[in-house]
Amino acid sequence: PPQRIPVICVDGPTASGKGTLAAELAHRLGYHYLDSGALYRITAYAAIRAGLQPEPAHEAAIAGMAATLAVRFSGGRVLLDELDVTDAIRTEEAGMNASRVSALPAVRTALVALQHSFRRLPGLVADGRDMGTVIFPGATLKVYLTASAAQRAERRHKQLISKGISATLPALRADLEARDARDSSREVAPLKPADDALLLDNSGQTVEESVSQVLQWWNGKQAFR
Ligand code: DC
Repeated sequence: PPQRIPVICVDGPTASGKGTLAAELAHRLGYHYLDSGALYRITAYAAIRAGLQPEPAHEAAIAGMAATLAVRFSGGRVLLDELDVTDAIRTEEAGMNASRVSALPAVRTALVALQHSFRRLPGLVADGRDMGTVIFPGATLKVYLTASAAQRAERRHKQLISKGISATLPALRADLEARDARDSSREVAPLKPADDALLLDNSGQTVEESVSQVLQWWNGKQAFR
């Protein structure tokens, strides 16, 4: 049964380094990887492309699109209806639209089955906001990743600059704080640590240090299986 397939959840706020950590863990363990935020980003992208703003008035229509999303993850690229949207869904605006779409309960429900389908042998590492609280409540290991807002803004800034996209630190920080506020205060599946999550503040850590910490926790869990 799928419940026996191991899952590691990595939840946390915007730009906490969840994606980097989760992808690296999946790589080391030879597990599948679910970037759940990408599904909300793609849904928002598809909605706007169809002329629907991510608002409650369009909840049912957008949920319908989410339930039948023709999405494919292939070789680090994201394809929607065979169109490469990898870069288009990574902008700040796309992130804010994803956050809006994700506050619509019917959209969240519509994406549940798709997220569960990523749980395949030999195992899964899933990152997002509600992996440990809602989507995989029985996960073997749940990590809640945090970092100071200043650190997160700094990282996002470096990331954008390296891609040749201009951005200012204060604007980025305001942006991510607004997104965190919306993600944490929504009614359905708000951003918060699961009761059984292990907290990891990676503010002063390198990626390697965070990866080692989680692998150590993971090995500790294995000893009790
Ligand atoms: O992780 P990210 O920045 O790609 O996520 C984009 C938005 O999607 C985020 O602001 C909130 C939403 N999201 C969510 O509600 N639940 C998830 N499991 C993942 C993302």
